Amino acid sequence: MASANAARKEAATVDLDAFERLLTPGGQALLAEVAARAGIETDLALGTRLRRSHDPALVASAVTQNHLRGLARSKFGADAARLYFTHDALQQATRRSVAVHRAARVAAAGLRTALDLGCGIGGDLLALAGAGLQVRGVDLDPVRVRIAQANLDALGLAGTVEVRDATTVQRDADVCFADPARRDGRGRRFDPRHSEPGWDFVTGLLQGGAVAKVAPGIAHDLVPDGVEAEWVSDGGDLVEACLWGRPLATATRRVTVLPAGATLTDADTPADATVAPVGAWLYEPDDAVGRAGLVTAVVEQVGGWLLDRHLAYVSSDRQVATPFATAYRVVEELPYRDKQLRAALRERRIGTLTIKRRGVEVIPEVLRKRLDLHGDAEATIVLTRVAGQGRALLVERCW
Ligand SMILES: C[S@@+](CC[C@H](N)C(=O)[O-])C[C@H]1O[C@@H](n2cnc3c(N)ncnc32)[C@H](O)[C@@H]1O
Repeated sequence: MASANAARKEAATVDLDAFERLLTPGGQALLAEVAARAGIETDLALGTRLRRSHDPALVASAVTQNHLRGLARSKFGADAARLYFTHDALQQATRRSVAVHRAARVAAAGLRTALDLGCGIGGDLLALAGAGLQVRGVDLDPVRVRIAQANLDALGLAGTVEVRDATTVQRDADVCFADPARRDGRGRRFDPRHSEPGWDFVTGLLQGGAVAKVAPGIAHDLVPDGVEAEWVSDGGDLVEACLWGRPLATATRRVTVLPAGATLTDADTPADATVAPVGAWLYEPDDAVGRAGLVTAVVEQVGGWLLDRHLAYVSSDRQVATPFATAYRVVEELPYRDKQLRAALRERRIGTLTIKRRGVEVIPEVLRKRLDLHGDAEATIVLTRVAGQGRALLVERCW
């Protein structure tokens, strides 16, 4: 029970009593003062001054929450200024855009009640409640439970949160949600079989009306039969995979790109894709497309072909706007060998070079050093393999 131990450790280092007092009118006034003065005084100076008139544990709690709210802005947007966190729970929390996307799909499936089995500080719980579901969260960690409840209250959302073991709590909701802890003292874990609650528990849930968030690196063969795996990226970052239990699955594999909210599934892939040399346009599929194994769906979308059957580069003679790939206009092919490539780049006065690569053993920083470029022009080159041969393409990014 690695994460149960981690949960107890974190609960021991966060002062639950001080957090309770932070929620009182006096604590809220102190938190507002900290927020107003932060950036004007250093955390240290502010803490020292406030400790003269306030309980030190309460001041520490206010300074910590204010600091965490700043860190949380990238995940929770403007709401971060009203929410509460612990450092680890913030790192584990689902970013708002992704949680909202998932909650909207749950709500659209007509489900009305949700049980979050390990809700942390409530990243997903808040989104499910915000989507109109009646929510109940459980977690082993009493601090996170208290914070999740405070977060529901802070956003004016209904719901209850309790200290319970997810594996033994009665599951009486339309949908169960699990986002098993994937970290331990040694850093992030990518294999879902090493999660807490355990993988057997999660796969058991997925036989029914359940949804589970897992690491995006999950191997396709770990996804149980009849369960849909959805890979999600947000702003070009591959952020997670989400498994939809048998009754909720509408595809085998899906990719969703946010903020567009565009989606492709295995039903969109052609039976086969052609492999051919580069055309007028080169498309670099979003990482989530590659993870989902749906590169050929992008081939279909842009009316194109693959440069290599095993590489996620798509080419086409047509310019097609797609949220699933970055499009580049192919300017010309350059020599692949270092010496000739250096000469070609120097001739074009290219001093700043972005190097993209797939399927070739090139370390961009090392190559850039070897090329020793001079000039005021900027350019992007794509190094890849076509019919087993290294190729260098000078390209221009379009969107
Ligand atoms: C990845 S975090 C959840 C994050 C949450 N979805 C969010 O967006 O804020 C996983 C949580 O599961 C909790 N947990 C792990 N094992 C548990 C168990 N057996 N019962 C209840 N909670 C558990 C951990 O304490 C942790 O807060």
